[in-house]
Amino acid sequence: MAHTATGATTSLLSIHRLTTTTGSTANSFSSLRTSSPSLFSTRLRSVIRPIRASSSTTFTESKDLKVNTIPTKPIEGQKTGTSGLRKKVKVFMQENYLANWIQALFNSLPAEDYKDALLVLGGDGRYFNKEAAQLIIKIAAGNGVGKFLVGKEGILSTPAVSAIIRKRKANGGFIMSASHNPGGPEYDWGIKFNYSSGQPAPESITDKIYGNTLSISEIKLADIPDVDLSSVGVSQYGNFSVEIVDPVSDYLNLMEEVFDFSLIKSLVSRPDFRLTFDAMHAVTGAYASPIFVDKLGASPDSIYNGVPLEDFGHGHPDPNLTYAKDLVNIMYSDNGPDFGAASDGDGDRNMILGRQFFVTPSDSVAIIAANAQESIPYFKTGPKGLARSMPTSGALDRVAEKLNLPFFEVPTGWKFFGNLMDAGTLSICGEESFGTGSDHIREKDGIWAVLAWLSIIAYRNKDKKPGEKLVSVSDIVKEHWATYGRNYFSRYDYEECESEGANEMIDYLRDLISKSKQGDTYGDYTLQLADDFKYTDPVDGSVATKQGVRFVFTDGSRIIFRLSGTGSAGATVRIYIEQFEPDVSKHDLDAQVALKPLIDLALTVSKLKDFTGREKPTVIT
Ligand code: G1P
Ligand code: ZN
Repeated sequence: MAHTATGATTSLLSIHRLTTTTGSTANSFSSLRTSSPSLFSTRLRSVIRPIRASSSTTFTESKDLKVNTIPTKPIEGQKTGTSGLRKKVKVFMQENYLANWIQALFNSLPAEDYKDALLVLGGDGRYFNKEAAQLIIKIAAGNGVGKFLVGKEGILSTPAVSAIIRKRKANGGFIMSASHNPGGPEYDWGIKFNYSSGQPAPESITDKIYGNTLSISEIKLADIPDVDLSSVGVSQYGNFSVEIVDPVSDYLNLMEEVFDFSLIKSLVSRPDFRLTFDAMHAVTGAYASPIFVDKLGASPDSIYNGVPLEDFGHGHPDPNLTYAKDLVNIMYSDNGPDFGAASDGDGDRNMILGRQFFVTPSDSVAIIAANAQESIPYFKTGPKGLARSMPTSGALDRVAEKLNLPFFEVPTGWKFFGNLMDAGTLSICGEESFGTGSDHIREKDGIWAVLAWLSIIAYRNKDKKPGEKLVSVSDIVKEHWATYGRNYFSRYDYEECESEGANEMIDYLRDLISKSKQGDTYGDYTLQLADDFKYTDPVDGSVATKQGVRFVFTDGSRIIFRLSGTGSAGATVRIYIEQFEPDVSKHDLDAQVALKPLIDLALTVSKLKDFTGREKPTVIT
């Protein structure tokens, strides 16, 4: 029988819409085709467009499913960074670009990991996700995957994907997101792959995928029509099926197991407590109302920018003081709410604010860890261990010491926490980059962090009568500093620098540390150690090198330099500055003022201006 790669439907397939949990009338794809032939073919063409067909395209039947084998050629530059493959969306829309990477991934996995396997698919709702979803489903089916669980409308937050993989015992999952990077036709797209523990694929897998992108020669594409993502239910294509699932329910169930919702509700529904959650027109818009409003009794107007949009409403969905401006303005206004939080594109980052008060992510994880046992049922026997990424401030170290808990310092990137969690030695961890989470899943989790904070505030105020002054976010943070000391911390980002200058700067710093020795003086500081951070995973012995150039001084102050692994254009230089202050009378300084001497030192030592031409950072956190 003659087929073409672009005319991919076949009348031989039996495709049925089997169930809908909403009870709405089941659709069949054949009726969609008959009733709306032009819509169907337009949609299909747009999906198949990235695949190059040629006269050498071949066809094989696989378990009732027709699979087209499409020749392709390697494409340069498909190496994943800190968190998946991220590029401008136009790059992903090039012929075969996404298809090559997905096929390379299947070529990298042992067959038993994906043949007849159950996989999860979802994303942050950004531009190109729906087309990408169709392509991913078809290639997965072409490679013998058994079933896909897909978030309705292609929506699933990164933490929800991790939660669903774990709950449904799936073999892995795809997340279509460039996280906090902007979306839309001119901006970014990305894809991440998580494996069966719900954790981002380790470098051993991503390196293999990259290797296979350089030798790929064919793509296996199942000959099935577009899947209707718009309603919950199951579609069967031969032995392959796709179940569209509600994006919220599994995740919400998990949150109800972790937290005491009635405790949180007792706070959130108080007339003298107001919260604002800024979903930044990103994926947590789908989760915020069902959780904060419907379950916890917040007023509907406490959700801000709550509708997920393909371009995030022209925003940059990164919850920090620069990009979450709407929330910052609300929280710093006269008579602002008591609690504010925001989450990023794919829902794994968080920012926590009190009234006119910013909680640094490094402090946030330390405070959650210090209060977890009494405020959060999941930790009722105490956390098993704590961990942070290397550039994150040492506030968490002090909590681990006081609670006598195992403590780990890992490289930047969430993937390094998973092995420790699987080994049962890590419960709560965080990164300075607005990532906080625990071993309830294997990703950082924005809404989890918000619920953790609400639990702590609720616990501290549970006996307060109406009209009594509540313990505030700033009270909790200041008490923490008084107990543990304050780790002043700031990060300077220089985004989209010329790669050449940025790389030269890092080479220069590597050379400098190779010549440095303990006792050297840098301005008023004496060097304790200078190195390029190297990590040996205590569980599997794998080694990660060149994870950031750090200068640690004898008073515990640190300056750290690294290049971002998540950007999509040029190079982003990150400088991390930290200084410990035990004296409570010096805890009320602005971080920029307290850290000024170290910041100046970092700029001088690195010769940043000479190498990059930059006078000022683009973002300060
Ligand atoms: C950034 C953050 C890092 C985080 C990652 C993914 O990576 O710095 O902590 O894990 O995003 O959210 P970077 O761009 O610095 O490589
Ligand atoms: Zn993210």
